[in-house]
Amino acid sequence: MHTKKKLYIETYGCQMNFSDSEIVASILSEHNFVLTKNISDADVILINTCSVRDHAEQRVRKRLQEYNSYKKKNPGLKIGVIGCMAERLKNKLLEQEKTVDLIAGPDAYRDLPNLLTTVEGGQKAANVQLSFDETYSDISPVRLGGNGVSAFISIMRGCENFCSYCVVPFTRGKERSRNPESIINEAGNLFKMGYREITLLGQNVNSYSWENEKEKINFARLIERVALINPILRVRFTTSHPKDISDELLYMIAKYNNICKAIHLAVQSGSTRILDLMNRKYTREWYMDRIKAIKKIIPDCAVSTDIITGFCTETEEDHNQTISLMKWVAYEYAFMFKYSVRPGTTAEKKYNDDVPEEIKGKRLREIIELQQKLSYNSNLKNINEIYSVLVEGVSKRSDKHLSGRNTQNKVVVFPKKNYNKGDYVNVKIIDCTTATLIGEAIE
Ligand code: SAH
Ligand code: SF4
Ligand code: F3S
Repeated sequence: MHTKKKLYIETYGCQMNFSDSEIVASILSEHNFVLTKNISDADVILINTCSVRDHAEQRVRKRLQEYNSYKKKNPGLKIGVIGCMAERLKNKLLEQEKTVDLIAGPDAYRDLPNLLTTVEGGQKAANVQLSFDETYSDISPVRLGGNGVSAFISIMRGCENFCSYCVVPFTRGKERSRNPESIINEAGNLFKMGYREITLLGQNVNSYSWENEKEKINFARLIERVALINPILRVRFTTSHPKDISDELLYMIAKYNNICKAIHLAVQSGSTRILDLMNRKYTREWYMDRIKAIKKIIPDCAVSTDIITGFCTETEEDHNQTISLMKWVAYEYAFMFKYSVRPGTTAEKKYNDDVPEEIKGKRLREIIELQQKLSYNSNLKNINEIYSVLVEGVSKRSDKHLSGRNTQNKVVVFPKKNYNKGDYVNVKIIDCTTATLIGEAIE
């Protein structure tokens, strides 16, 4: 019997990458690898990468340079790049980064044991084949670094929306949905293990669709089935595309107490002209109509978003439209980015990246500042309200406080008393900051 090889995995990018790393850990645990938390101990380092913005790729390249020092200390160490950067750059990455021994794209993880054997023999190895049907549905992920209370389940892979700025359709391939039975089983097992919150993941969960002879299941039906596992299991999802967030789904969220009242609906820009150039397939008015539907059907629903500033040809007027839309929606939270040209996308091929860097930066600072005010105002309104908070653990700031979330996905901090991780606690809000609600447990 060989001694087991030690595997260290580092993950960058979106939640789907974190979820994929758990699949990779599971596959390799079945093949004579054991996970280590200590990088200097590792026989193999895998870095799961993101290509969504240039900055994300630069961070990984810097990290690869740092890995060189571990290779000097341990010449047997093998380094693999997996995920979106491996998929986007393919063999170019092996040529550019001499320290890399192996590359594997997001659909090639079952081949990793095999690729690692090749690497052991002293050769480089690559598999960047994308798939039409791989969903890893039969693999039980090894939960890495979670809090034991909330877990993520990938329900679909790929994206075919081809927003003109976005690299994801190229790195993740065709859209495909995972077998619902395997999703329900995974969620049920997590519940039995003590997990109390499941987030269903996909680049556009509203396109979830599964059919067999007996039935056809869309996303609204799937989320209902997960919610029915147990009333004390919370369900969240991310992310939905505004063009197809249906009333059926909104009514489903309203119907079940344990489907959380928080929707992430990336707007990207408040200008219809820019949305058209982005190939987002909706207008400002359509987006506003969807927000009205959310507020009507789920009055206490929080809404968060993603915004890109400085997309090709964006004028001050377009930018002001984004600002006015942000104020109109009054987002609870937003992720905001400067536009970054991605090679191979429509925007890179057809448009000019003509908004100067300083203007992009100025516009980004403006919307970040605005969002901070919006978040703070929204939190102020919650003072004196009572929320059911699912406790995730002790607060980062003080071990005398617990931290958890309410259904709107807001972080709530309160004095510990005798409560524990995984408990639901009724908390009355007495104060707030931009990012946190501060409260006290009530009996
Ligand atoms: N599928 C999700 C988004 C996944 S990428 C959705 O459509 O909602 C996460 C976010 O990164 C996007 O919403 C967008 O705001 C941002 N993003 C994507 N490509 C980008 C680029 N080229 N430059 C800057 N931001 C980008
Ligand atoms: Fe990218 Fe658009 Fe797909 Fe989201 S929906 S992953 S932004 S192409
Ligand atoms: Fe990045 Fe790939 Fe996710 S590009 S955002 S890691 S799908």
